[in-house]
Amino acid sequence: MQTISSINSQLQKQIIHKSFEIYRLCKRFDLENIFNKNFWSTSVMALCIQTPFLKSRIFNFVDVLPALKTEKQLQEHLEAYFFDYKNFASQFLKSSLKLAFQNSFSSKFISNFIQHSSRAMGRTFIAGADLDEVLPILKGMRENNLAFTLDLLGEATLTEKEAQENLEKHIQVVQELDKRIQNWSSSQLLDFAGKDQNFSIPKINLSVKLSSLYSQINLANFEQVKEILKDRLRPLLREAKNKNAFLNIDMEDCEMKDLTLTVFTSILEEPEFIDFKNIGIVIQAYLRSSKSDLLGLVEWCKANNRSVQVRLVKGAYWDYEVIKAKQNGWEIPVFTSKESTDYNYEKLSRILLQNWQYTRPAFGSHNIRSIAHAITLAQALEVPKEVLEFQMLYGMANPLKESLVSLGFRCRDYVPMGELIPGMAYFVRRLMENTSNQSFLTLQNFAKASPKVLLKPPKLRNQSVDFLKFSNSKETFSNFPPADFTKEVQRKSCQDALQAVEKSISQDLEIPIIINGKKIKTERFLNSLNPCQPSQVVARACMASVEHAEEALKCAEAFKKEWASCPIEERAQILLKAADILETRRFEFCAWESLEVAKPWKEADGDIAEAIDFCRYYALEALKLVKGKQLLKVPGEDNQYLYRPKGVGVVIAPWNFPLAIPLGMVVAGLVMGNPIVFKPAEQSTMIGYLLYESLIKAGCPKEALHFLPGSGEEIGPTLVESNKTAFVAFTGSAEVGLSILESANKKTASMKTVKKVISEMGGKNALIVDEDADLDDAIKGVIYSSFGFQGQKCSAL
Ligand code: FAD
Ligand code: 2OP
Repeated sequence: MQTISSINSQLQKQIIHKSFEIYRLCKRFDLENIFNKNFWSTSVMALCIQTPFLKSRIFNFVDVLPALKTEKQLQEHLEAYFFDYKNFASQFLKSSLKLAFQNSFSSKFISNFIQHSSRAMGRTFIAGADLDEVLPILKGMRENNLAFTLDLLGEATLTEKEAQENLEKHIQVVQELDKRIQNWSSSQLLDFAGKDQNFSIPKINLSVKLSSLYSQINLANFEQVKEILKDRLRPLLREAKNKNAFLNIDMEDCEMKDLTLTVFTSILEEPEFIDFKNIGIVIQAYLRSSKSDLLGLVEWCKANNRSVQVRLVKGAYWDYEVIKAKQNGWEIPVFTSKESTDYNYEKLSRILLQNWQYTRPAFGSHNIRSIAHAITLAQALEVPKEVLEFQMLYGMANPLKESLVSLGFRCRDYVPMGELIPGMAYFVRRLMENTSNQSFLTLQNFAKASPKVLLKPPKLRNQSVDFLKFSNSKETFSNFPPADFTKEVQRKSCQDALQAVEKSISQDLEIPIIINGKKIKTERFLNSLNPCQPSQVVARACMASVEHAEEALKCAEAFKKEWASCPIEERAQILLKAADILETRRFEFCAWESLEVAKPWKEADGDIAEAIDFCRYYALEALKLVKGKQLLKVPGEDNQYLYRPKGVGVVIAPWNFPLAIPLGMVVAGLVMGNPIVFKPAEQSTMIGYLLYESLIKAGCPKEALHFLPGSGEEIGPTLVESNKTAFVAFTGSAEVGLSILESANKKTASMKTVKKVISEMGGKNALIVDEDADLDDAIKGVIYSSFGFQGQKCSAL
């Protein structure tokens, strides 16, 4: 009897044997025929691989090229991007750039050459602008026994008009292809899934990206976005069903993954599509979650007695995923070793093949080893050959396609169609992929790696989930990671907190004035209303009078010396503890912000995260600041630069960032040893109260912080003008800020000190859109800067 390990080692031998067989076939089919024999593409990519420091500059330049309309613009940009060309190692590049900068004749020649070549380069990966250009290519493919899936370029759509147009374009293309290709003669290899599979494979095949169909995808609003996407997809699915077309839903970045899977299964459960088989989805093996996603899909198919195609790929957004996770301090969702991705691809191939009746396997890869593994395992598991499909990208790995066809496998080319500008993201992904020193094709074609190295079995490397560890240490600060609302668990926490907080509101919450820890109730109240539902009173706050303001200032001043003499370590510790409290209660605070000032979840969470950052950053900075600095050493002198508490600080806060801004102002003063009198904004007294409560719970002495809800007009002048006030920290309108600056230091007989006023006032910013800007990005930035944060950002456009 054979043992499992001997079966495995036999299988490995067969895989290696198959890999070499395909490798040799590829050589016969002209291994050098990479990138459709496009000289420019091949040269540019070779240059990027040889000179990594030029890679990002070249890609940036390629990215702006379509936006440059005149020769002068092109010339200027060339100079700006490659001003230091004399230091380049590449003689070809040096001579070309020298020529470009030499005189107007040669510059014209080079400019034309660059424009022409970049278009040719785009055409390496993009088959054509429209069906008239692309159809002859598709026909040629079919003559060479190659099927296609057409991708209409355009993704991450910005406007609803564009989204609608994209949907219509997809529908029109299905209709048009129905007229123009349904009469193509049948091909046993391409159009039949085998005798046991009682259905034929449609000739028309489209790959669709959900982000092209809806412009307002906000993952915090998962359920609604899901329904809208289903609404968008329904007519397209209907058309595909009517015209016997196949639809594949592409997988985009990880943020879109759960949404895409949910939309996919959910729409297929609708009675209208319950018998629709001509549909597929993508699983990306570079994702750590891919195994559970694939198993989930298999389970869904089994439970619903369905069969769908699954395109197994490694994934096209690797760099983006890594950078985005690092920026946000999130776990990196992808494997960080290429070999682990390859290893996982093989594991997932096995799951797919074992469940082929449910998840019909389509292997999207240009890696000979990954493909040979799938072929060998399929044979071992007795999966009918006709069920298998191999898919590759247009313009890449042509000899491999030919090899697989010659071995009798169904092979499908992924064919992008459209203009270069909407296709730029796709194009740049191809450039990145083909110049990555990890990519199979790069190693094969440029690095000329030996087949022994290329085709060896992959191993699972270090599995640890790298992420920029958020650190609370005394030495280093890192930003608190914002919530990731693509994760169901985070959305649920936010939703639960919202419900709990909303329930607690009905209990007639009264917010007191608090001076020296004593809660004071008043007859008069300020109602804090939910801006989305003004009939809902979120909280009722007592209103401080001038006498309360004077009392608070008096108590603060009485504690001034004691607080100043409290060791800095203790004061900093209070801030660190407060940060921990905010962290544990983050979603509860988020909910209060949503209710009291109508903050969308993401922005509310951002405000809490920033408040946590303020506490931790100021605590760490204060520890450094109090050490002071040694100044000039002059014989006989001892010059030191020290920070000392100033005295009583008054904080007058705004409502637009109701926790972070007031908290930043309060804790900055407190940590340096100044007692604070804090007046929250009228519109956000509840959040002001939560701020006060958190600091007291964190150990702030009740004599060091006094809470004065009330009307700014009523108590503001007393707080600002009092001779007990040493400084005022204000954030708000220019009108109030300027009047504070003016009145804080009016000379009076009792004035003891020149007050410091820190006044952060609102303004409107200009935004410059340069001639080479990516207009989609610029528009997104303009809209967010103007209308994000309910238009209430102090520095909005
Ligand atoms: P290989 O060279 O073997 O693998 C390269 C891949 O390894 C990279 O793309 C990346 O995924 C991964 N990788 C690179 N560096 C590392 C590292 N340091 N650590 C871990 N992993 C690493 N991708 C999608 O995201 N969505 C799609 O819908 C999609 N559709 C596709 C359709 C087709 C027909 C094909 C062929 C591919 C598709 N892809 C898709 C995949 C993608 O576009 C790449 O072509 C593919 O990942 C390259 O893998 P490979 O097996 O050909 O090459
Ligand atoms: C991409 O758009 C092929 O879907 C993959 O990069």
